[in-house]
Amino acid sequence: MIFADPPYGDTSLPWDVLVDGWERVARSCIASTGSMWVCGSLRFFMRAGHLLESAGWRYAQEIVWEKHNGSGFHADRFKRVHELLVQFYPDSSPWASIYNQVQTTSDATARTVRRKTRPAHTGHIAASSYVSEDGGPRIMRSVIYARSCHGRAIHETQKPVDLVEPLILTSCPPGGLVGDFFAGSGTIGDACNMLGRRYIGAEVDSSYFAKATDRLATLLPFGAAA
Ligand SMILES: C[S@@+](CC[C@H](N)C(=O)[O-])C[C@H]1O[C@@H](n2cnc3c(N)ncnc32)[C@H](O)[C@@H]1O
Repeated sequence: MIFADPPYGDTSLPWDVLVDGWERVARSCIASTGSMWVCGSLRFFMRAGHLLESAGWRYAQEIVWEKHNGSGFHADRFKRVHELLVQFYPDSSPWASIYNQVQTTSDATARTVRRKTRPAHTGHIAASSYVSEDGGPRIMRSVIYARSCHGRAIHETQKPVDLVEPLILTSCPPGGLVGDFFAGSGTIGDACNMLGRRYIGAEVDSSYFAKATDRLATLLPFGAAA
């Protein structure tokens, strides 16, 4: 699995400059059963969409991350308290062959009755291994609430570990390898460490690289995801 949290090009942060060509590099690295989660704003994806497609990536689904607070970049618009995480997979692989472990929550009530057949209009992603049971576990929703790291972050755009954990569980088998193209503070390495996935992170800024390395070195089991 690849996780990519690239600069969105939305702010005046010195590193927030769009990176050229990373989509093709990522495509050349992915296994035929692997997929890639990309973070971004809608503005970012409107620019990046055709680049991802022409690099050989096909759109699968998106998650909305609902934060507890947000950024009021403009006083004349809604306060932005969400970001997108979009999953892509290689266009040479059918969706059914992509590793996918359905994530569930245990908050369904015994009276919950769910539809077990899929409506015809749901598109080309048809295969599913998930069997629902009345009152049993519920498929995780596509809006994930997670507190942002405001006030305790070591990176300006640090993602919370509990946001990325379900994406790793869904898309990478135990012991599998996650490539983190824009590592920042090492959040993905932290999550991989907790979940028993192997991790390779790339970060161009030497001070963030040092912070991420220190963060991963202090996690138990020490150094497992470094
Ligand atoms: C959105 S932040 C990632 C934050 C990270 N997911 C976290 O939770 O801490 C993007 C990072 O990409 C880094 N970056 C920018 N260009 C890069 C490049 N060409 N290669 C590797 N990292 C790069 C930036 O320095 C920045 O730390």
